[in-house]
Amino acid sequence: MANESVAAQMKEQFDSQAAEYERMVGGTTRRIAEKCLPYLPPITSTSRFLDNGSGPGIVTRLILDTAAEQGINPLPHVTAVDIAPGMIAQVEANAEHSGWTTVDSHVLSAENLEGIQSDAYDGVVMNFALFALPDAVKGAREMLRVLKPQGVAVVTTWKKSAPVEVLEKAVAAIRPQDTANVFPISKDWLTMEKVRDTMVAGGFSKVSVKEERSVWKNSSQEELLSVLTGPFWQRIWANWSEEEKARLKPEIMKQIQNETGEKGVEMEIIAWICAGVKE
Ligand SMILES: C[S@@+](CC[C@H](N)C(=O)[O-])C[C@H]1O[C@@H](n2cnc3c(N)ncnc32)[C@H](O)[C@@H]1O
Repeated sequence: MANESVAAQMKEQFDSQAAEYERMVGGTTRRIAEKCLPYLPPITSTSRFLDNGSGPGIVTRLILDTAAEQGINPLPHVTAVDIAPGMIAQVEANAEHSGWTTVDSHVLSAENLEGIQSDAYDGVVMNFALFALPDAVKGAREMLRVLKPQGVAVVTTWKKSAPVEVLEKAVAAIRPQDTANVFPISKDWLTMEKVRDTMVAGGFSKVSVKEERSVWKNSSQEELLSVLTGPFWQRIWANWSEEEKARLKPEIMKQIQNETGEKGVEMEIIAWICAGVKE
């Protein structure tokens, strides 16, 4: 689990980078979120979903767009919650821009969904956020609480992220002692057992986990380099010397090219998709 100081650091990071978020994650989380929808109960006008650790509302948009494509009118209700006020401000901006009238959003920790009604949701999606909680089992219990009986929670975690590995290799070449700062969360979270056991400990039944592959994609290698050296990652090298910082871009570009080939713009990511039912 993320310890308190890592969790606080991540909150600050996500808060300040909310507007840039989708480019910053190379569209990865949206591609994996698409693979979560089939696990949820069918979408209807009366269904209610929770986008937990919503970021700017990637899952919220996906559910509403899918419902619209299926001709569902009125659209289902989606509640988006995130600990970072900057992310919730983005959800609100998206709601206004896209004319969403069935969305409510709240700045809340997923560990304590205070004010969110018990036994009220048909589905919860927590896409790449459970591992950020200092107490992930508490987060799982909260998802269980707000679901209706037979409701489903779908949670995703990383198994492999080539962009993170690119950064780890680049940092290892320059300042090996900082390599662990790239992904400052216990490596247990890369295992299937960690997410499964967390959901079981939270009280979920019929817990299943499936591996899904996708890509992190930017429009050019220069954009990949700019994202991987951008403000989101600054905390890693904030205290480095000027000489060390000067080595960063060439080293990261070398690792990008090792990973993608000379002109490639896609990197492999593998996620765990874990679904559990409230019985
Ligand atoms: C990698 S992002 C994923 C965002 C989004 N779910 C997506 O599909 O792209 C992780 C999100 O978890 C949020 N987060 C971190 N700790 C949290 C907590 N304790 N409670 C709720 N959200 C949290 C962050 O602010 C960030 O928006």
